[in-house]
Amino acid sequence: MPLRSSDARWGALAQFFHWTVALLIVAQGAIGLAMVAMAPTVAKVKVYALHKSIGLTVLALALLRLAWRAADRRPADPPAMPRRQALAARAVHAALYVLILAIPLSGWLFNSAANFPLSWFGLVHVPSLTGGADPALKAFARAAHETLFWILVAVLAAHVGAALKHHYVDRDAVLARMLPWRTRRRPVPSGDSAR
Ligand code: HEM
Ligand code: HEM
Repeated sequence: MPLRSSDARWGALAQFFHWTVALLIVAQGAIGLAMVAMAPTVAKVKVYALHKSIGLTVLALALLRLAWRAADRRPADPPAMPRRQALAARAVHAALYVLILAIPLSGWLFNSAANFPLSWFGLVHVPSLTGGADPALKAFARAAHETLFWILVAVLAAHVGAALKHHYVDRDAVLARMLPWRTRRRPVPSGDSAR
């Protein structure tokens, strides 16, 4: 599969970023919700550290992904797609980009304002964003982290629902062209669509 995207298909790098970030975000949601309910043990401290390290990885991948998107191209919209639907898809994608940056950033801010030390998998020291404890900012960042996560869940439901509708109802190649394996869907810009 070519590294770059074409008019008909997402390239290998765009697919790598999309599916790696998707997998890590889902894992992060599960780990985050589970860890806050844990009894205060050594295991809890370890799970928190893992959550923070994976979250920082997501932040780095999201930044690399945006940089690559600026250098790459975007496959064409299906010709039969109404303009309103194309605009809605763009808005949902923009919201997802904002959320995959803002959620780990709010976690990092919370950690900094709580004056907890931070390292990436125990290998790299990560600096504080606040330079010390800040109780008001800590409360804000904590609330933002949780609220933004639930907003992500709602936006994702629309995103995944739309992908499945394209695949099973419209029967076009919008989902297929984001998948690393070949499917029988004809390429999106073929004009007469794959109905
Ligand atoms: C945390 C999970 C996910 C995030 C953050 C996410 C984010 C995004 C973003 C930002 C784009 C826009 C790409 C661009 O135009 O640069 C996109 C495209 C896409 N996503 Fe996701 N996604 C997630 C999960 C999923 C899942 C589970 C599916 C499938 C069931 C899916 C299917 C697609 C498809 C098919 C496209 C391409 C749309 C097109 O070609 O216009 N995504 N995703
Ligand atoms: C990829 C991104 C991330 C996702 C999806 C995510 C998701 C979550 C979720 C769902 C919770 C539970 C919220 C609750 O019910 O109270 C949580 C808690 C937490 N997250 Fe994240 N998180 C991410 C990144 C980060 C990062 C990068 C850090 C820090 C560097 C971090 C630090 C924390 C902390 C300290 C808590 C516990 C808050 C508390 O004790 O109330 N998170 N996260």
